[in-house]
Amino acid sequence: MDRNYLINFDTRQLPQEEWEYVIIGSGIAGLYSAYIASRYGGKAVVLTKRTVLDSNTSKAQGGIAVAIGTADSPDFHLEDTLVAGAGLCNYEAVKILVNEGPQRVAELINIGARFDQDNGRLLLGKEGAHSRNRILHAAGDATGAEIQRALTKQALNNPSIEVRESHFVVDLLIRENNCYGVLAYDTQSEQLKVFWSKAVILASGGVGQLYKHNTNPEVATGDGIAIAYRAGVEVMDMEFTQFHPTALNLPEAPRFLISEAARGEGAYLLNCHGDRFMTRYHQMAELAPRDIVVWAILQEMKETESSEVYLDLSRLGDEKIDRRFPNISSTCSFYGLDVKKEPIPVTPAAHYMMGGVKTNLYGETNISGLYACGEVACQGVHGANRLASNSLLEGIVFGQRIIERRLSISDPYRSIPLAQRFFYNEAIINEAIVNQKSNYEHLRHSIQSVMEMFVGPVRTSAGLLKALDIFENMENLGKNPPVKWDEMEVCNMLQVAQLITEAALMRTESRGGHFRQDFPDSLKRWRKHIILKRV
Ligand code: SIN
Repeated sequence: MDRNYLINFDTRQLPQEEWEYVIIGSGIAGLYSAYIASRYGGKAVVLTKRTVLDSNTSKAQGGIAVAIGTADSPDFHLEDTLVAGAGLCNYEAVKILVNEGPQRVAELINIGARFDQDNGRLLLGKEGAHSRNRILHAAGDATGAEIQRALTKQALNNPSIEVRESHFVVDLLIRENNCYGVLAYDTQSEQLKVFWSKAVILASGGVGQLYKHNTNPEVATGDGIAIAYRAGVEVMDMEFTQFHPTALNLPEAPRFLISEAARGEGAYLLNCHGDRFMTRYHQMAELAPRDIVVWAILQEMKETESSEVYLDLSRLGDEKIDRRFPNISSTCSFYGLDVKKEPIPVTPAAHYMMGGVKTNLYGETNISGLYACGEVACQGVHGANRLASNSLLEGIVFGQRIIERRLSISDPYRSIPLAQRFFYNEAIINEAIVNQKSNYEHLRHSIQSVMEMFVGPVRTSAGLLKALDIFENMENLGKNPPVKWDEMEVCNMLQVAQLITEAALMRTESRGGHFRQDFPDSLKRWRKHIILKRV
């Protein structure tokens, strides 16, 4: 995209509001930040493009990792996170995550999140690459839904927080390295609005919808990364897309997540012959780091010349399946599969973005007044491959740090330019293209197919170049400016697809979630980050 802003606008012509905090996104990072802001007496508006419940948080199954078990410690959690991160974690950021995590989780429980217990003792499950049991879960396998419920209830009853649903943030209002607020589109009233603020927090989640096969909700289209990049914000580690090893693989079903917690409880991965294979790939077998399990599944598919791989839960027994995996069990049953009797057909699917808007340890970006936390952000806690269930924790740990940082700095450096004009009025570039109606819905599907085909778990230089070529052509089609918010969303998807592909092409090695068939080894000289910034 070569436009500064997605659409033409003039702030003087638009309804305007001023807020202490403008928070973009209503998942765990956004709602928790709003809660902490309110605890310190701040007032926050949370802008969310669909309903408050539409987030990746709502869909999280396995849980939230936290070192609170008697046999555990933050140091063990640190070590596991660093190993999974394949040499690219920011050590200081991980230390903060694991040390501040227990306190933040206690806060979450205070807010009302109900995690599974046995006689008043919190139950701790296990997931891939964790050396200890440290995964809190709720309603068996519906942890995210419970956290979302508790935080949403809190936000809706909190007089200092206003949640605005159906508000799609189009662009950030940035001048001379300061963020002054956002331009948003109210999709109900179909009206542009301006939200001024000295503290804008991006908490808009991930990018899973860039791929045809993914475990994410429809809202996960990478908007936060796209609007930040357009505005000159640095983004980092974009090549590190995480594919979850086990998404449901039935022709008539979406790629519903089959939680890693199932393997944590003892479920086996089987190839098309019914043979267990993970023991041949890693000493932790089914509980190897996620990138390794994905790679092993793809390898097994190749060797057996079959796309069939299964996850066998039946060996857990009926009682455990009912207690731990009611959500998985009932969803599979909806598609005609009895997980107590039959193995579940599974396949890797796009799940999480390790990279994102580059921040420091306080969630600050390279633009004053602009912060980021949760999946949209990248301060380096996940490195090249996120440790399972660290993402919910990241949202609350860094959400808190942003608010505390904000309060610790005196605020003289700028004032909101209410009377000032932010505007954009770019003439349309090419008449012929303008007159040809862009089909954004078609573009959306094409982006998803190209990403799936060329920028999936196995990448090559030829495929990535081909993808970039196709995206450039799409950009020309997209020169007809978007009118509706879902068209703007497609522009964001295209922007983020290009960033992922460009970074993936640059990184001529394999590491964590990024596997290059033409460069299969991890190279010492690549122990570094790729930071992209628009000039
Ligand atoms: C899962 O339940 O397998 C997902 C956990 C995660 O992505 O961290």
